[in-house]
Amino acid sequence: MSKKIFSGVQPTGNLHLGNYLGAIKNFVDLNNDNSNECIFCVVDLHAITVKQNAKELRSNIQETIATFIASGIDPKKSIIFNQSQVPAHAEGAWILSCVARMGWLNRMTQFKEKAGKDKEKASVGLYSYPVLMAADILLYDATHVPVGDDQKQHLELCRDIAQKFNSDFEIENFLQVPEPLIQKEFSRIMSLKDGSRKMSKSELSDLSRINLTDDKDLIINKIKKAKTDPLPMPNTTKDLDERLEAKNLLGIYASLTNSTLEKSVEIFAGKNFSEFKEKLSEVLVDKIQPISLEIKKLLDDKLYLDNTLLEGVERANKIASKKIKRIKEIVGF
Ligand code: AMP
Ligand code: TRP
Repeated sequence: MSKKIFSGVQPTGNLHLGNYLGAIKNFVDLNNDNSNECIFCVVDLHAITVKQNAKELRSNIQETIATFIASGIDPKKSIIFNQSQVPAHAEGAWILSCVARMGWLNRMTQFKEKAGKDKEKASVGLYSYPVLMAADILLYDATHVPVGDDQKQHLELCRDIAQKFNSDFEIENFLQVPEPLIQKEFSRIMSLKDGSRKMSKSELSDLSRINLTDDKDLIINKIKKAKTDPLPMPNTTKDLDERLEAKNLLGIYASLTNSTLEKSVEIFAGKNFSEFKEKLSEVLVDKIQPISLEIKKLLDDKLYLDNTLLEGVERANKIASKKIKRIKEIVGF
């Protein structure tokens, strides 16, 4: 069956190995399967749910587009665009915010994490963020949504919103209820400094993550400094339960070599971390360096990036404007 794929990434800078292994690598595989129709969105409306500097945001949008292309998404095949240029996203989000229930949104753990202790000072946008995400997906009748593990709850909300809309307006199967595509393994890459925390763009220490723009020396240095424990490398995957940092690094190795955790544990069992780290750096440099060089090259060709974006916006707008027109009719406008 042909799949309609939709996913989004926020242009908030520092795209990292977690974004790559949890999401973008998957986008590339889906893009390469000719039976799929893929749409990849730079979700700039989502980015402003927390304060952004306008100049930096503009350059982060370009960098995210460049990262998609440098990672292997073909903009001729897949639609690549930024959300703010297609008005149906904001319009759809408003209409769906009248379908979604407060009780549903109150359960969202990402809001609780991002808003922190001072919920009163969080933007209203940060709270209703998952409704905008639902609009993104539902406007394109997406059947499958590839994301990292942290977005699972938001996708369940999207499914609930689609079902409630269809039932409230008595229009069966109008909004397509999408399936999440979450990798079984390695769907959550952890910080290099703390195996219990997610690798994240917003973590203060740059040593906690491998950025997709890091060069060879930086990658080697970050892996050298990555936290481990005093024991030799584990002998079985069972040993990993208590050894979060070892588990994360072995997971990264397995994912990059398209292997399994079991096999990777086997290769390095009983060895020193230093030996493993050398091999890990090698595979990381092999994978990330070409992407990082290509991002730099693309960022020097602003005209190409602008034209690619323009084309993507036009193609996305064609689909989304049709759907929002129907949604408005159904609602009674
Ligand atoms: P964001 O940067 O928050 O827009 O995330 C873009 C995509 O990367 C989403 O599909 C996330 O689920 C995924 N992602 C972000 N951080 C990680 C991580 N540490 N491990 C795995 N996937 C991640
Ligand atoms: N919320 C997602 C994240 O932070 C980004 C996103 C926005 C998205 N809209 C989407 C992902 C639609 C998938 C589909 O990672």
